[in-house]
Amino acid sequence: MDGNVKWKLRFAIVLCASVLFVGIAGAQQIERSSLAPTPPMGWNSWNKFGCNVSEDLIKSVANAIASNGMKDAGYQYVVIDDCWQVGRDENGFILADPQRFPSGIKALADYVHSKGLKFGLYSDAGTKTCAGRPGSQGHEYQDALQYARWDVDYLKYDWCHTGTRNAEEAYTTMSNALLATGRPIVFSICEWGTSKPWLWAEGIGNLWRTTGDISDVWSSNKKWPDGSCCQLGMVNIVELQADLYPYAGPGHWNDPDMLEVGNGGMTIPEYQAHFSFWALLAAPLIAGNDVRSMSPATKDILTNPEVIAVDQDKLGREGRRIAKYRDSEVWAKPLSDGSRAVILFNRGESDSNVPVSWQQLGYPNHLPAKVRDLWGHRDVGSFTGSYAADVPRHSVVMLKITP
Ligand code: GLA
Repeated sequence: MDGNVKWKLRFAIVLCASVLFVGIAGAQQIERSSLAPTPPMGWNSWNKFGCNVSEDLIKSVANAIASNGMKDAGYQYVVIDDCWQVGRDENGFILADPQRFPSGIKALADYVHSKGLKFGLYSDAGTKTCAGRPGSQGHEYQDALQYARWDVDYLKYDWCHTGTRNAEEAYTTMSNALLATGRPIVFSICEWGTSKPWLWAEGIGNLWRTTGDISDVWSSNKKWPDGSCCQLGMVNIVELQADLYPYAGPGHWNDPDMLEVGNGGMTIPEYQAHFSFWALLAAPLIAGNDVRSMSPATKDILTNPEVIAVDQDKLGREGRRIAKYRDSEVWAKPLSDGSRAVILFNRGESDSNVPVSWQQLGYPNHLPAKVRDLWGHRDVGSFTGSYAADVPRHSVVMLKITP
């Protein structure tokens, strides 16, 4: 071989190796933070159906979301929570319940995708899930691979039966396992806030639970029958979010748990307050009701485009409490157009007049600003320096204030 041919051969080998390397590296180049640029929106089976999940349920829910206005409003992920899994095969791969999911998870994911929606599953960082099904501990890479083969788009990952595991380490392992598949899979950390995931989970998960489970009641802080703490009502969860606003942003969101809107334990104004707060907190909007048979009032809440726009605002700032009076509060969220979403919140038992000043919103007092009512769908007028509204007991008035 003369020198020239040898040189060409070497060049060809180096070129092939580089192409191969770029190809392999490229397949793994998913940035965790690039997933969920705005808070994820979707539906999850747990709050309404618990362990009563099946492929028929998931298909009919996907049909409903695709046709009842929810998909158009932005709802995307259809997530099966606990109890879809029953064991592992002889090679350790996770198995779905063959009675409840006779066509298998891949076929179900294909069905959900055919409706223009995305598909999610649930697992747990411990040896078992909270309902006692097989967890992913020791099977993280194998489970992630299986989810990717099934075309899963979202994983909720719980924290039962984890013993002395370190949360940051456990969630990092699964996050890396998901990224290594090369498939973009949104990662929902469900650790209940015990180890303050807002301090460590940015870059590991796309959302993290900040509290224990929500209950479908306005207010409660009762201990559970076993003496552990506590059954959390909606306003108790809101209270626990007050200091968490610095930690949320595009790709990494505080998650105050899934929605109870439409499940029957609160009044319509209370559910409007629930939905308003989740939007103001830039929380994931994961419906948890039976979306196949909801009342017009429930649907109007879940699909209110003006409130959803607050949640999905591309600036990605979480709102915070800016005033606290006796039984009322004011919360505000800066939006990308320089305006503010504002909640006038009456948590008390009698009606109340709740004021907000421009100074509290960070605007000069002399500035005229337009006030729009996001539940009344009407422009209220232009005001200078402050605005106040009558807010009935257990409810909110939600506004957009634009200078
Ligand atoms: C935990 C989670 C819930 C739900 C159940 C399922 O309690 O916090 O959201 O996933 O487990 O068993």
